[in-house]
Amino acid sequence: MGTARRQTDLGLRPESGRKSDPEEIAFPGRRSFLGVLLGVGTVTMGALLSVPLARFTLYPLFARTTETKWSDLGAVKEFSSITSPVKRLVTVERLDGWRENVSEQAVYVNRSGSGHLRVLSTICPHLGCSVSWHEDRRLFICPCHGGVFAPDGTLISGPPPRSMDALNTKTEDGTLKVEYQYFRKLVPTKVLIG
Ligand code: FES
Repeated sequence: MGTARRQTDLGLRPESGRKSDPEEIAFPGRRSFLGVLLGVGTVTMGALLSVPLARFTLYPLFARTTETKWSDLGAVKEFSSITSPVKRLVTVERLDGWRENVSEQAVYVNRSGSGHLRVLSTICPHLGCSVSWHEDRRLFICPCHGGVFAPDGTLISGPPPRSMDALNTKTEDGTLKVEYQYFRKLVPTKVLIG
């Protein structure tokens, strides 16, 4: 009597007065089992949903630093009769993580010894100055430290550690395209940096 009254005073129903759930009597572990199942389901769903979110967020960290696109240089027939390097400006689109950069870069289109079209970067492999073609001397010359290159970009003299960098090209629907890329300076071999 005293215990039942204290429980009533505290707002609790006396144990003897509580009605039992018939299902709980029939399946005593059912509620706890459903609770565990719900918990596991929630955790699994949370984990599954977090994977694409994490990939989306971390993509710029793990993706290639930069991604280049092919740029148009003009109709192949425009270059069919060239006898000297021809300068062209190309629009270069690059993807750095989530950001897209658009810039203009200069290249020279020329013919290789075998007659194929060749596209050369104007960035000097010494310290990065812009190499230009001198028709009177029929040479490429770098204005910064006097690097000299043959018409096909082969190093002739000066401090550059290698020849001018040839860029990847392809022809699509009669249009010459170039994959503009950057290479490490001051090293004797061509090393792609982006
Ligand atoms: S930057 Fe071209 S020779 Fe030095």
